[in-house]
Amino acid sequence: MTQHSKQKKKSFFLVNSLFVLILAGVLIFLLNAPEETTSFLPKDEIHLQFHGIKSKKEAEKFCLECHDIGKDAPLPEGHPPKFRCLFCHKRK
Ligand code: HEC
Ligand code: HEC
Repeated sequence: MTQHSKQKKKSFFLVNSLFVLILAGVLIFLLNAPEETTSFLPKDEIHLQFHGIKSKKEAEKFCLECHDIGKDAPLPEGHPPKFRCLFCHKRK
């Protein structure tokens, strides 16, 4: 085997290892996602209207009107990052 093709093999190995590492990282990230025990979007008088809005993104625009600091129902302390409410608080 020439010196050149040996080096080529080595860099293939590095690229493949990197790829596996990235996949492992993504998997760990997904496994760390909040469990399904996260409370669902309530189906009460207040929240019923948001079940009707098809786009999650559109519906979420209203959440912080009540669930922000100093509002009616602020988020509990230590609440996870809060963008995209409905990814975690699913609608049933
Ligand atoms: C008009 C005010 C208001 C808006 C807008 C609002 N909420 Fe609420 N939310 C409340 C109040 C008050 C409570 C506590 C009483 C209750 O459970 O209904 C609550 C409770 C909750 C709970 C806790 C339910 C539980 O099981 O403990 C979640 C989750 C929630 N809201 C998510 C959302 C999301 C997501 C949005 C946006 C789509 C939203 N809320 C919009 C007022 C609001
Ligand atoms: C990354 C996932 C995630 C996102 C995004 C998220 N939440 Fe939560 N939320 C949680 C978890 C987990 C809890 C329970 C926290 C605890 O037990 O201390 C919680 C708790 C709450 C509570 C308290 C009542 C309960 O069920 O414990 C309310 C109200 C709430 N979230 C509303 C919202 C709103 C409104 C948004 C968007 C602005 C939002 N959340 C975004 C995961 C999330």
